[in-house]
Amino acid sequence: MSNIAIITGASSGFGKEFTKQLASKYRKLDEIWVIARRTELLETLAKEVTSTKIKVLSYDITNREHILELKKLLAEKQPTVRILVNNAGYGLMGHFDEIPLESQLGMINLNCYALTEITHFVLPYMKQRSQIIQIASSAAFIPQPSFAIYAASKSYVYSFSRALAQELKPYDISVTVVCPGPASTEFFDIASTTGDIKLIKNMFMANPVNVVKEAIEDAAKGKQVSTHTLAMKSLRILARIVPTRFILPFMK
Ligand SMILES: NC(=O)c1ccc[n+]([C@@H]2O[C@H](COP(=O)([O-])OP(=O)(O)OC[C@H]3O[C@@H](n4cnc5c(N)ncnc54)[C@H](OP(=O)(O)O)[C@@H]3O)[C@@H](O)[C@H]2O)c1
Repeated sequence: MSNIAIITGASSGFGKEFTKQLASKYRKLDEIWVIARRTELLETLAKEVTSTKIKVLSYDITNREHILELKKLLAEKQPTVRILVNNAGYGLMGHFDEIPLESQLGMINLNCYALTEITHFVLPYMKQRSQIIQIASSAAFIPQPSFAIYAASKSYVYSFSRALAQELKPYDISVTVVCPGPASTEFFDIASTTGDIKLIKNMFMANPVNVVKEAIEDAAKGKQVSTHTLAMKSLRILARIVPTRFILPFMK
């Protein structure tokens, strides 16, 4: 039986970085299944990573037929999933009433619905010491005017993952929720199609290589939350001690 990792949103940004770093850290993985819509980028990644076999799965994980294909593939191959990285996601900046409803629901479909469904059907293929890594965001800590649905979707990922971590403790399966601040990936190219990125976000822009390195280390230690940079760790603490109504005016 083969030991595999599954990474969604592997064609760019954090997902691509997870693929490279997990391949180099966990040499005993037989395969890494990489999922995204842009096949060429996944195929380029597969050529770049030479230490581990990369299985390219050109799926849109909000598409029912593709989700069924993934389920079928798991049932057919019966692998042991050592690591699942639910990373695919996007955000759109701007006022709730100005962004097309379809795009806002699309965020919920990808960031919440697909993540939940994949976690649910991959879980039976996991064993003791398997790891689930869920990519949330520091936006999960506080509601964000002008980024409302995105922040809410990531609060969902955060809350769900913390609870799941507790439920899976007896089975020795860890769940680590990763809460990065702004990082230089394609994320803001998409996010700024509906609104402007604020200067403050540019000032805190992290390198995705470091975010992913820390996330992989934290997941290996079984940490439930991985927050890169002192600024984002401070934001998490601030959100716990200062009433939301006082922070909200500064979050726009
Ligand atoms: N960068 C940041 O500042 C930041 C901060 C906090 C959290 N995050 C979170 O980090 C995660 C990764 O984002 P990133 O920063 O690496 O941005 P990114 O470079 O835009 O990567 C997003 C990935 O998701 C994939 N994806 C999008 N829609 C998909 C779909 N329907 N089906 C399958 N794959 C899909 C994209 O691939 P295709 O287009 O090829 O499908 C891409 O590989 C997201 O969940 C994001 O919310 C990012």
